[in-house]
Amino acid sequence: MANYTHEPSRTFGEYLLIPGYSSKDCVPDNVNLKTPLVRFKKGEIAPLSLNIPLVSAIMQSVSDDNMAIALAKEGGLSFIYGSQPIESQVKMVTRVKNHRAGFVVSDSNVSPDDTLRDILALKERTGHSTVAVTADGSPTGRLLGIVTSRDYRVSRMSPDLKVSEFMTKFADLFCAKDGVTLSEANDIIWEHKLNCLPVIDSEQNLVSLVFRKDYTAHKENDNELIDASKRFRVGAGVNTRDYTERIPALIEAGADVLCIDSSDGFTEWQKIVLEYVRQNYGDQVKIGAGNVVDGDGFRFLADAGADFVKVGIGGGAICITREQKGIGRGQATAVMDVAKARDAFLEKTGVYVPVCSDGGIVQDYHITLALAMGADFVMLGRYFARFDESPTKKINVRGNYMKEYWGEGSARARNWQRYDLGGEQKLSFEEGVDSLVPYAGSLKDNVNLTLEKVRSTMCNCGCLTIAELQKNARITLVSSTSIVEGGAHDVMLKDNQQVS
Ligand code: IMP
Repeated sequence: MANYTHEPSRTFGEYLLIPGYSSKDCVPDNVNLKTPLVRFKKGEIAPLSLNIPLVSAIMQSVSDDNMAIALAKEGGLSFIYGSQPIESQVKMVTRVKNHRAGFVVSDSNVSPDDTLRDILALKERTGHSTVAVTADGSPTGRLLGIVTSRDYRVSRMSPDLKVSEFMTKFADLFCAKDGVTLSEANDIIWEHKLNCLPVIDSEQNLVSLVFRKDYTAHKENDNELIDASKRFRVGAGVNTRDYTERIPALIEAGADVLCIDSSDGFTEWQKIVLEYVRQNYGDQVKIGAGNVVDGDGFRFLADAGADFVKVGIGGGAICITREQKGIGRGQATAVMDVAKARDAFLEKTGVYVPVCSDGGIVQDYHITLALAMGADFVMLGRYFARFDESPTKKINVRGNYMKEYWGEGSARARNWQRYDLGGEQKLSFEEGVDSLVPYAGSLKDNVNLTLEKVRSTMCNCGCLTIAELQKNARITLVSSTSIVEGGAHDVMLKDNQQVS
């Protein structure tokens, strides 16, 4: 006979937090949102942590190198989507690792025979005002000069004027030799009042650029998620098909952590991938697995060696898995059940395996609830898709700006590997939709606002860390009528909308 669970599975919107005692030290400024990303032994510190409990979803419409840089700046982490050729995923990882390591591989380059028109078009495309002039126009060609907006006057100069005519020539540039340290490079920048310092090899080939603004930006934000060499941390999605090629390539490119991206992680396929990683890299390579929705799934992946376990089936904003296949579980119930299994696993083995709540976050307070219910961090797709930094187009729909957001299981993404159960290499039917979400501005502004709310709620609950929140939060189910009571009600809003 089938096994029944008669308790309904529930979503975040069905719960609230009950405030606890808050001492006078319990203020948002004192809240620490640092949280473990990968497994660690009881009493030790996780080898990899996040400075804020947010990661961006492994999706084409969410996590590219641009998103990864913006989120790492705020202390979170992106998992670059795996539903692309290995080479292009590797390029994205490389760009994140190279970005503002202080030393940036030049991505705006021309040759001396190009024209002012080419420079203007390049500036329009990349937004960068510093352009390297190399013999072959490549990022690592022989450096012949630099063009910045100080070198030309659009109103006075012909667009056909050759770059060689107005660039600042190599002989007049300050350059550093490859091997220079970041602090030496910054000293040269300060000493000679430069905005940009090219780094060249012994053959005068361009290696990288160091920018003054990066130094200042780095000073401004001490919450950034960086590695020991001050490079941004970045994650990458992998699948259970081409992992023997994709994983070595991503590791070589410097990915800090991997995650097996699948809609159903309670499978032998995931165990095989985890075994491959342990056999070839021991504990050096960190890899999460998922998704699961109960304790059995968690134990299976934790036993198989997953560094973290991702929770959630069917709750994503673009997801139609529950409708299509009738599988899944309310996200709140799934997180609570898995967190219970995680605590039991810690008790039994002395190893803590972090839990990630993936999908279904609609309100900012859902993040706090997910953490209170036991998640160590949350993965968000729709939330990040709305920002300037997401890879998709911003379009004007009847006067409102929207951003595109599509599921990995939609016909548009065709990420069949995510839904693969070992059969034919194709997406047999859609499990996601192609949609629009309201444009919301910059990642930085939104993440800061969201986390202000999270910190504030944590203080209401008398908790200064996520671990305290997980231990001490008091959570209550709410009735449908009390949900109505929770919004503005029985008043006429100033914009003349009646709210019941
Ligand atoms: P969101 O934050 O509610 O938008 O959910 C994002 C999550 O939905 C992702 O991290 C994935 O786990 C999941 N997801 C992504 N694409 C699809 C899809 O096409 N169908 C079902 N789930 C998806």
